[in-house]
Amino acid sequence: MIFLKALALIGSPRKGGNTDCLADAFLEGAAEAGAEIEKIYLDDLNIRPIAEVCDDFGMRVDLRADDDWRKVMNKVIEADVLVWGAPVYWQGVPAQMKCFADRWSCYYAAEWLNQGFAGKIWAVLCAYGDPTQDQSKWVTEPIAFWAERWRGEYIGDVCVSAGKRGAVAEMEDVMAAARELGRKAVSAAGE
Ligand SMILES: Cc1cc2nc3c(=O)[nH]c(=O)nc-3n(C[C@H](O)[C@H](O)[C@H](O)COP(=O)(O)O)c2cc1C
Repeated sequence: MIFLKALALIGSPRKGGNTDCLADAFLEGAAEAGAEIEKIYLDDLNIRPIAEVCDDFGMRVDLRADDDWRKVMNKVIEADVLVWGAPVYWQGVPAQMKCFADRWSCYYAAEWLNQGFAGKIWAVLCAYGDPTQDQSKWVTEPIAFWAERWRGEYIGDVCVSAGKRGAVAEMEDVMAAARELGRKAVSAAGE
């Protein structure tokens, strides 16, 4: 029996925060659909911004290969479903997440290496504080772009306006939508 794996990458440093709660619901749905699940808080790790990449040998070399980035990447490559828990920070993803994603550039030039990303199912869980305006596109658009570039399938997102830590846990419909997205992502990965 082949187990599918669902990996949540949390960009917020706030444990028990809104994207964290959404990720719990998503992973619950993913587990119900039969996946192994794991959650990683990028802020707990030492992941430095990308350094200059060198392609003297026809592929790019990660000049900072000694930090935690590669450990996370091993899990990314094993995962069938990637869910990005990303609050909006000033019209973008948190710096922790951007640092992590920029480092993927080391794989970009090497065709044989970036095959490892093809066919994954991607999803986004986004919280933003503004109650007057949907700000989620600042997070969903870049991550959908990453998914396309890394040959994944962007299956959907759950986005919510919520400011206080964990406020989203009280929003039953939003938590149900995140659970459902988790189930759907795993089913799609199994097809
Ligand atoms: C540094 C920082 C920048 C933020 N920028 C925005 C923003 O541009 N637009 C917005 O609607 N909310 C913004 N917020 C509010 C967060 O998106 C919001 O509180 C969200 O619920 C945090 O998610 P979390 O609980 O998962 O950390 C910002 C919060 C922080 C800490």
